[in-house]
Parts: sequence; C-alpha cells; structure tokens
Amino acid sequence: MAFTIKINGQTRRVDVDDDTPLLWVLRDVLGMTGTKFGCGAALCGACTVHVDGVPTRSCITPIDSIGTSAVTTIEAVGATAAGRKVQRAWLDLEVPQCGYCQSGQIMSAAALLASNPKPSDADIDDAMSGNICRCGTYVRIREAIKQAAAS
Ligand code: FES
Ligand code: FES
Repeated sequence: MAFTIKINGQTRRVDVDDDTPLLWVLRDVLGMTGTKFGCGAALCGACTVHVDGVPTRSCITPIDSIGTSAVTTIEAVGATAAGRKVQRAWLDLEVPQCGYCQSGQIMSAAALLASNPKPSDADIDDAMSGNICRCGTYVRIREAIKQAAAS
C-alpha cells in the first residue's frame, strides 16, 4: 500500500506493507541509514526517531500508524535548536565510542532538551534510561546533555 509521510520537512511516498516498521522504511526504502537497528524489540533505543517531537522506537512503529505526523531522524535533528546544541556538545566531549547507539542517544537527548531545556539529573536519567550503550558512554552522555542545556 502507498503511504505519504512527512520526514525531515519533506513529503515522501513509499509503497510498503501496512505493518512495515518505520525503521525499515527509513533504512531500506528511503536509504536513510543514520537510524540504527539494535534489538528490534523496543529495548535498546538505537532506532529512536522523533514523531511529532516525541522520541519513538521506529523498530516497533508500523508505517500505518504515522498518518500525518512529522518524523525527524538523525539526518535532520541538527536543524532544530535543541538538536544543534546536543550535536555540538557530543562533538566537544567526544561522546561516542563505537558510535552504534549514538544516533538514538542524540535523538532522545534532543527531545528531552526541546521539552525541558534545564533538566535535572533525574530528568536526564528518566529520559535516557531506554537508550542502551554497550560501550558504556553514559557518563559522557550525561555531561554532554548538561553542556548542551547550558549553551
Ligand atoms: S532497535 Fe528499536 S529499540 Fe532496539
Ligand atoms: S558508543 Fe558503542 S554502543 Fe554506544
């Protein structure tokens, strides 16, 4: 079935099964490979994108649930004020190690700062708790979010 979806400020038309996860539409149909596949079961956060600004696990989000909502991915989050600050802090503090989890981490952090510009430590822990990093970059992630919030 054909779907017209709003992604990163553009309207894109895709022809896929109704229950195709948004993640596969992004990666396989649209060639936007910045969003990663980790667990495929909403457990790791690697596939996080924004749907109307809300951090969303694209691996379990069927394309037919998107409707007219606006999807933002790591490819365009730097065009938002919060996303720009987060990416700058990530570079300054050299947050990534292997990098695999980091686009999902950045999407969760950017959504947090967009809704809560001065998060407490507890707010940060809450917002980031679903994003797993096998390399253990959690300390740098928290520092980068604080730096982004202060910038
Ligand atoms: S791949 Fe979606 S949460 Fe792990
Ligand atoms: S940087 Fe390697 S999994 Fe997070």
